[in-house]
Amino acid sequence: MIQIKKLTKQADTKLILRGIDLSIEKGETVAILGPNGAGKSTLLKVIATLIKPSSGEVKINGFDLKKNSQDIKKLMGYLPHSSLLYEHYSPLENLVFFGNLYGVKGVEEKAIKLIKDVGLSFFLKEPVKNFSRGMIQRTAIARAIIHDPELLLLDEPHTGLDQGAISILNDVILSMKAKGATTLMVTHDFKQAAEICDRIIIIKNGQVADDFKIDKNQLDLLTEKYLQHTEGVA
Ligand SMILES: Nc1ncnc2c1ncn2[C@@H]1O[C@H](COP(=O)(O)OP(=O)(O)OP(=O)(O)O)[C@@H](O)[C@H]1O
Ligand SMILES: [Mg+2]
Repeated sequence: MIQIKKLTKQADTKLILRGIDLSIEKGETVAILGPNGAGKSTLLKVIATLIKPSSGEVKINGFDLKKNSQDIKKLMGYLPHSSLLYEHYSPLENLVFFGNLYGVKGVEEKAIKLIKDVGLSFFLKEPVKNFSRGMIQRTAIARAIIHDPELLLLDEPHTGLDQGAISILNDVILSMKAKGATTLMVTHDFKQAAEICDRIIIIKNGQVADDFKIDKNQLDLLTEKYLQHTEGVA
């Protein structure tokens, strides 16, 4: 699903990504961990075609990032730190708007179902600007999957969610996985990473420091490996 070769990203004089090589198979659920400033969000933004790499090659589903960014955009759902929602719009209006951008059929019914799935049926027509952080995040999750993406890119998706919303999000990710979707999730939440991911990638100083498979309930292994790589890093 994703092939990355010798990827670098330089901003001003700073080398943020320093030669990333990575291959992710269709259907994998992968967590990207690493200290603040390691380059995790930058890597996700490159894959989401929001920023251009300085050098290297990125292929998604066989499409070259440089040549076929429109094809790539269609097959992915991206949930960034910021929600990408229009705050004067309701959840329904936001989802219908984004769904129409992607040419989703039966978009209104689909939007209503997704809003129900994330537990916001009572707030279907309330402007998002009145929402709490967690309610915004729930709406943003629904928005990211309105077009049934094959690839989900999630940047710290669990942040700000209550227990109920964490279960909803995990169910969303696992049900997308059951349909064959691939998920790449940047997180600082080891527990959730161990709970739903089958592979862990640790990024440090813009490079892949570790890459290993994980089974459910291997939180200890994850913590141990993380500390091995990041000891002494703030
Ligand atoms: N547009 C930019 N111009 C200059 N430096 C940037 C730019 N974007 C990111 N950086 C720098 O690149 C480094 C990596 O940033 P990035 O947001 O990818 O980190 P991160 O691993 O997601 O961290 P966090 O865990 O804090 O979210 C940081 O030092 C950041 O200051
Ligand atoms: Mg980040």
